[in-house]
Amino acid sequence: MMKAQGSNAIKLLLAPLFAVTAFSFIGSSAAEDAMKNEDTFIDNLLGRMTLEEKVGQLSLYATSFEALNHDPVNPVFKPKPAEERFDEIRAGKVTGIFNGFGVDLLRRNQEVAVNESRLGIPLIFGADVIHGFRTVFPVPLAEAASFEPSLAERTARAAAQEATAAGISWNFAPMVDVSRDARWGRSVEGAGEDVLLNSLFASARVRGFQGADLSSFDTMLATPKHFAAYGAAIAGLDYNTVDISERTLRQHYLPPFKAAIDSGAGAIMSAFNEINGVPATADPFLLKQILRDEWDFDGFVVSDFNSDLELVAHGFAADEEDATSLALNAGLDMSMQSGLYNDHLVDLVRQGRVQESQIDTAVRRVLRYKFRLGLFDDPFRYFDKKREETLIGSQPIVDLARDAGRRSIVLLKNQGNVLPLAKDIKRLALIGPFARENEHLNGPWSIFGRNDESVNLADGIRSALMSPDSLIVVKGSGIEKAIDGGIDEAIAAASQADIVLLAVGEGQHMSGEAKSRADITIPKPQMELAKALKASGKPIVVLLRNGRPLAIPWLADNADAILVTWFLGSQMGHAVADVVFGDYNPSAKLPMTFPTASGQCPIYYNRKNTGRPDVPERADRFKARYIDTSSQPQYPFGYGLSYTQFNYTDLRLDAADIAHDQSLGVSVTLTNIGDRTGEEVVQLYVRDLVGSVTRPIRELQAFQKVSLAPGKSRTIRFDIDPHALGFWGPDMTWRVEPGRFEVFVGGSSEADLGAQFVLRGE
Ligand code: NOJ
Repeated sequence: MMKAQGSNAIKLLLAPLFAVTAFSFIGSSAAEDAMKNEDTFIDNLLGRMTLEEKVGQLSLYATSFEALNHDPVNPVFKPKPAEERFDEIRAGKVTGIFNGFGVDLLRRNQEVAVNESRLGIPLIFGADVIHGFRTVFPVPLAEAASFEPSLAERTARAAAQEATAAGISWNFAPMVDVSRDARWGRSVEGAGEDVLLNSLFASARVRGFQGADLSSFDTMLATPKHFAAYGAAIAGLDYNTVDISERTLRQHYLPPFKAAIDSGAGAIMSAFNEINGVPATADPFLLKQILRDEWDFDGFVVSDFNSDLELVAHGFAADEEDATSLALNAGLDMSMQSGLYNDHLVDLVRQGRVQESQIDTAVRRVLRYKFRLGLFDDPFRYFDKKREETLIGSQPIVDLARDAGRRSIVLLKNQGNVLPLAKDIKRLALIGPFARENEHLNGPWSIFGRNDESVNLADGIRSALMSPDSLIVVKGSGIEKAIDGGIDEAIAAASQADIVLLAVGEGQHMSGEAKSRADITIPKPQMELAKALKASGKPIVVLLRNGRPLAIPWLADNADAILVTWFLGSQMGHAVADVVFGDYNPSAKLPMTFPTASGQCPIYYNRKNTGRPDVPERADRFKARYIDTSSQPQYPFGYGLSYTQFNYTDLRLDAADIAHDQSLGVSVTLTNIGDRTGEEVVQLYVRDLVGSVTRPIRELQAFQKVSLAPGKSRTIRFDIDPHALGFWGPDMTWRVEPGRFEVFVGGSSEADLGAQFVLRGE
């Protein structure tokens, strides 16, 4: 049945083409060849399109249907009743619809496009499938803590399977913005502060979404976003100005995009922000020079929601027409939601302010990826009702969510080995606003997950206990507001218990888009609860709920144990229980630095030394330090404990010096000196001691996640490729400079086992 509809669509599409291609009848091998030949097909189709239809292929709109079980993820802007949108689709004014889902709904839209528009060009259905579809995986920042790109590839693959089963073939993900400032709410959506970690996760996610064959019914087009440097917003304020050097842009913010494109990503989303005075959505340096001239990107660039229209608010365009011509001429191929391209491009061509050839180039890119998705072959290929009913939420995907969840949890502290807990513990108190709730498990960017299908902490922990009655659950406080009598009730519960699990942190409404915070501490009522519980004298294990690093100095000093549990998605309760009771030995590491105070932000490990570096143990005044708080992080990038302990010895370099075309072997012995099997993320950092531009105090060059049984040792080997030691020099060319380098290997960015080598000039 699906195939029959597909063939029908081919007929509709090809029939008018015959005049151009001189093919005599449908089904001829020449026609099939033409279908296979992307360029011929696209040229033929383009040749038949009116200017209005071309512009329509560059215009994307949000779904008209209130299908979402979630707060709006975008401002309400020009919503249209379904019938009006159908008329636009019939008129060839719509390239695709986003954030609608479900086979029935999307099929109806596709039928209108394919059967009722003049050329029958299929729609593309996009969505923000950021970390899972109906089955929700850990927020991307959490998943990055696993330091397992292969895990991200698997969850992205599973997300693509579910989303495509609901008719979606284009994903507005992965977000690959490096975020060095924890105040920025969208830190939650990326892989944190490090460029290598971001690049590896970007590639993995693109591979997962797009699979081996983009035209398969269970793969979807990936869109690395937001191009570029959206995470460098001044003061961590979402949408704010970005003012950074071209060097910082190239060195720290662009590589994850390059990695995503090299992995085959076919679309890119432009960012809301300006960089150095030019909004990214209309910046030819980004959209033409970098993307096309330097990187040879053959996909299309879509704006962010209204970001073309916002050129006016930026003070970059005088009016809507101006914004339209600036964006298109700068290389923005597709407009999301504003309708600007439909409203103004035809006139602008007539006025000579935009060349039709530039529009043709953009349309070609869009049609290319519709073609590669197989939409011209069968526009209904993503609409299999049976698949939708059986695949979504199927057991292997749910199991993956649990495994991904526990692999993302970071153990920050475990005084006296209070964790893991015994499952036959007599009395366990679970206290806090996140103890038993389903509203803050999935995270701010899961618009298709259902809260009532996610496992909360109380249920997950209770189901792991030998005797479910041993768990007492008390809220004690709201997230931001105290509860009358809440603390008394919490203390009463704690006094009956052997151990307190304290579930505190930020709600999912406190991170994500437009959720910047100037103060990234835990809200006061929760801290009052924590302090009161401390006075009860019972050991406290913090289950931190967060979408970004938080400043938690009091907890760091006073809690017995701290687990960073983020927003872990559908299986959160089980994943946390697996770690709390030791069914899984925590192995994750922080992908972003935890500050001691909000005012330290942005704080990141790969900072510059400065001329007056702080030496914490010395009380020198004239140093790069604060007078009212430490300049050091609370927990550094790469940090995370295990229930076992690892020892690093015998760091060896294969040579004391190497030539520029040689790689350097580095080995270290890792020993599990504890009493249970565990996984360790072995990290290798390099410092370039002297450069023609100053270099960071260290940079992550490689890592490996290794599992070791107790008492066992293993030699871990790395190869340092000198090319990776390069940087953007004073003349803005990539250079690798000879000189002395220092290598550090260990379990965090503060690893102190080091050795030096020299990179020779020849
Ligand atoms: C705005 C966000 O910045 C972007 O990431 C998202 O894809 C679009 N809205 C569409 O929902």
